[in-house]
Amino acid sequence: MTEIDASEISWQDQYKLMVGSVTPRPIALVTTIGPDGPNAAPFSFFNAVGSDPAMLMFSVGDRTGQAKDTVRNIRETPEFVVHIVSDAIKEQMNICSVDYPFGVNELEKAGFTALPSRKVKPPYIAEAPVAMECRLLQIVELGRKPYHVVFGEVVFFHYHEGIVNERYHVDVGAVNPVGRLAGKGGYCRVTDRFEMPRIALEGKPSAE
Ligand SMILES: Cc1cc2nc3c(=O)[nH]c(=O)nc-3n(C[C@H](O)[C@H](O)[C@H](O)COP(=O)(O)O)c2cc1C
Repeated sequence: MTEIDASEISWQDQYKLMVGSVTPRPIALVTTIGPDGPNAAPFSFFNAVGSDPAMLMFSVGDRTGQAKDTVRNIRETPEFVVHIVSDAIKEQMNICSVDYPFGVNELEKAGFTALPSRKVKPPYIAEAPVAMECRLLQIVELGRKPYHVVFGEVVFFHYHEGIVNERYHVDVGAVNPVGRLAGKGGYCRVTDRFEMPRIALEGKPSAE
C-alpha cells in the first residue's frame, strides 16, 4: 500500500490526489447572469444530490483570492442553468473555461446559442443535450483554500429530442456525456457500458 497522510502534503498535492482518484467526474457547464450579461463556465466537482426536490451541487475554487464570476453572479442573481457536457460540445466547453475578465460573454466566444430559460433569468445553451434550470438553495464555503459549494434545486429540465422517454428514462447513450479525468487534458467517453442489476432482497426488485 502507498499510504499518505493528508496533513503532511501541500494543497497542490492533495488536489492532484483528489482529481486523480475521484474519476470519472461529470462536467457541469453552468450559465449565470451578471451585470454585463450571461457567463458560462465548466465545473467537474459536480454531482446530483437528491430528488425531492431534484437537487445538484458543484464546487467552485477561488481565483487568486477572489470568487470566480460564476459565484459572484449567483450571489447577485441566485439562479443558474447546469448543462451536461457531451462529446459534441466538449471543445466549446473548453473555450468557456478560459479565465476571461469579469463581464466577458463566454457563450459568444464559444459560438454557443443562448436561449431564454423558462423559469430562471440566465439563458440555457441550445447545443447542450441536457439543460437543468436551477434556483440556488445554498452556498457552503469550505476549506482553508476556499471552495464555494453551490447547491441548487432543479426547477425545469430541457432535453434534445430522443433523449428522454414518456416514462422519464434518460438514454445515456444519446446524451453521450464526457467525463473529466486528471491532468492537463484527461477526459473520457461513456462508450464501454455494461449492466449489473442490483441484487434484490427476498425476490423484490430494489430501487436505487
Ligand atoms: C473540464 C473542466 C472542469 C473544471 N472544473 C472546475 C471545478 O470543479 N471547480 C473550479 O473552481 N474550476 C473548475 N474549472 C476551471 C473553471 O472552469 C475556470 O476557472 C473558469 O474560468 C471559471 O469561470 P468563471 O470565472 O466565469 O466562473 C474546470 C475547468 C475545466 C476545463
